[in-house]
Amino acid sequence: MTRRHAPDAPFFEDLLTQRLTRRHVLQAGVAMVGSALLTPAEAGAPKAAQLGFKPIRGSKADAITLPSGYTHDVLIRWGESLTSKVPDLDAARLDAGVLLEPNAAEHQRSQFGQNCDAIHFFPLNGRGDHGVLCVNNEYTEDALMFPGHGFGNTGRAYLKKHPQAVAVSKAAQGVSVVEIKRQRGRWRFVKDSRFNRRITADTPISIGGPARGAALMRTKDDPAGERAFGTFANCAGGETPWGTYLTAEENIQDYFANLDQLKARNDVDPFIVESHRRFRMWKNQSLYNWDMADARFDLAVTPTEPFRFGWIVEIDPLDPTSTPIKRTALGRFAHEGASPVIARNGHIAVYMGDDDKFEYVYKFISTGRFDAKDRAANRNLLDQGTLHVARFDASGKGQWLPLVFDPKGPLNAAAGFRDQADVLIKARMAAYLLGATPMDRPEDVEANPTTGRIYIACTRNESRTVEPGTVTYGGREIDSAPNPANPRGANVFGHIIEMAESGDDHTSLEFSWEVFLLAGDPSGGRLVTDLNQLKTDSAYYAGYGNAAELSPIGSPDNIGFDRAGNLWIVTDGAQPNGGNDGCWVTPTVGPNRGRLQQFMSGPVGSEVCGCQFSPDDRTLFISIQHPGSGGSTAEPRSHWPDGGNSQPRASVIAIRKEDGGVIGS
Ligand code: FEO
Ligand code: CA
Ligand code: CA
Repeated sequence: MTRRHAPDAPFFEDLLTQRLTRRHVLQAGVAMVGSALLTPAEAGAPKAAQLGFKPIRGSKADAITLPSGYTHDVLIRWGESLTSKVPDLDAARLDAGVLLEPNAAEHQRSQFGQNCDAIHFFPLNGRGDHGVLCVNNEYTEDALMFPGHGFGNTGRAYLKKHPQAVAVSKAAQGVSVVEIKRQRGRWRFVKDSRFNRRITADTPISIGGPARGAALMRTKDDPAGERAFGTFANCAGGETPWGTYLTAEENIQDYFANLDQLKARNDVDPFIVESHRRFRMWKNQSLYNWDMADARFDLAVTPTEPFRFGWIVEIDPLDPTSTPIKRTALGRFAHEGASPVIARNGHIAVYMGDDDKFEYVYKFISTGRFDAKDRAANRNLLDQGTLHVARFDASGKGQWLPLVFDPKGPLNAAAGFRDQADVLIKARMAAYLLGATPMDRPEDVEANPTTGRIYIACTRNESRTVEPGTVTYGGREIDSAPNPANPRGANVFGHIIEMAESGDDHTSLEFSWEVFLLAGDPSGGRLVTDLNQLKTDSAYYAGYGNAAELSPIGSPDNIGFDRAGNLWIVTDGAQPNGGNDGCWVTPTVGPNRGRLQQFMSGPVGSEVCGCQFSPDDRTLFISIQHPGSGGSTAEPRSHWPDGGNSQPRASVIAIRKEDGGVIGS
């Protein structure tokens, strides 16, 4: 979702037009000069498939815009029921308060959730035309659900009158698991499938890994610290090589209220308060006000409840009766997604971003090895291993720093860590102490399946200062100046970093890196092919030099790859040309490396997420999240997908080529 920042967050709008100082230009230049990334030829990379579509221009239309020769189907909308035992949401009655009726929450627990984000496809046959889709439902756009509702003060008064809305909101978040089939070229979801399932903010979830049973994980409702209630704020995701789904709990801080009241209590461990401050929990009322109907979300009542969220949760989509498991060995932060890769030696590396300003990029390496012959043997691989955080050096090299409790090291009792569970629960604080590089909101981190290179989407960071300086953000003072891996001050359009593990070994603790893309508008002389020429408003497209062939882009968020290794990017936020969010693609190797072109534009107010291909690359599944955001049930800003005077509804779409060809060709 588009981040809403706490009122005390610094914001440097006026820095947009300023320029990088000479020092920062040089810093950026050093990174390039010293880069040790192999050229595509040296890496022996396969040639990317030819992208043959005619790119679209940015659009403000309340519609899905695609290149000529492409079309889309709406696969499933928020509120469509997964079972014939429960009716679909009657969206025409939203403004009449249908979601305040007594059975609304119960119904929503069997209906597709709101504000779909990550999509992953788990095949049920070898043809790739039948599978189970796991989709995250990140948050609720309350103004588009409940008449007269909104966030903030009005929300609190509203929920006092209508506390049942909290149960609906909790039921609309989490994960939707849906069986889908392609027949005569079109995908449909299968109602009443035994795989169909909703996991919500109240579903019991087991806690696995080193933090299971830890003191900070215990609450009155779960005195053993072994079972959490629900998952919410689920953003991007991932899939394991053994066919399970990883869902990422991201902006959990926006649901917990009353940090100031907790601070005033003198019977609470000060490290608990400090940790919540580091996570930017709300001082008084929270953004979603769930504490109005559930004391779990009141920090003054349940101080340790937030420690049970902010994890990666593993779900087996093929076993609808299985209990999801929070994998605490992967650390606790605002998880954007989780991308597992099998290293050559069989260990599993999981790449992850922490999406907040000045947060970090992480990699988990499993202790055990992947067993290709025995699915069950891999089931708890993510419970044991070492979490690392990235430091990007000006030399173009970098280090993965292990987050390990050590009485003699920086992560010890004096720093607030009693054991490894504490290190994982407070991973952000541990990463800071190790000197990790603060990034411009790292969102998706994914490995290119054809080259093994890692791509890190940094969506933007308006608080990155142009001049040297510090800001106080997330409970600590941080160096806010541009650094080699975040080379632009006032980074309003974001960027993408490309990384190569040393020796192409995903368990290596050393890597090389370079800037792949500096998003923006490449027209009007702003395109640079040499990062030594970098200015704050420059765009850089991996050195590609013909601005006329490039599409402007801003706010890269989720990324994905087709089987040819082309990098697909979907966006969440401001576009340089004022258009809606959308989908772009660029080759990462060959003469067209960096030739980024726009493939799709989304409806008004929406964020475009997901970016998942069917196994044959002939379908691109995309989540259209929060269409009509900023409007209300009384005055919708969008009527997508049903047109006319209908209410906007977040939905998953399936994009296909009219001739049945590969997407992008
Ligand atoms: Fe939920 Fe970081 O986007
Ligand atoms: Ca985002
Ligand atoms: Ca995202």
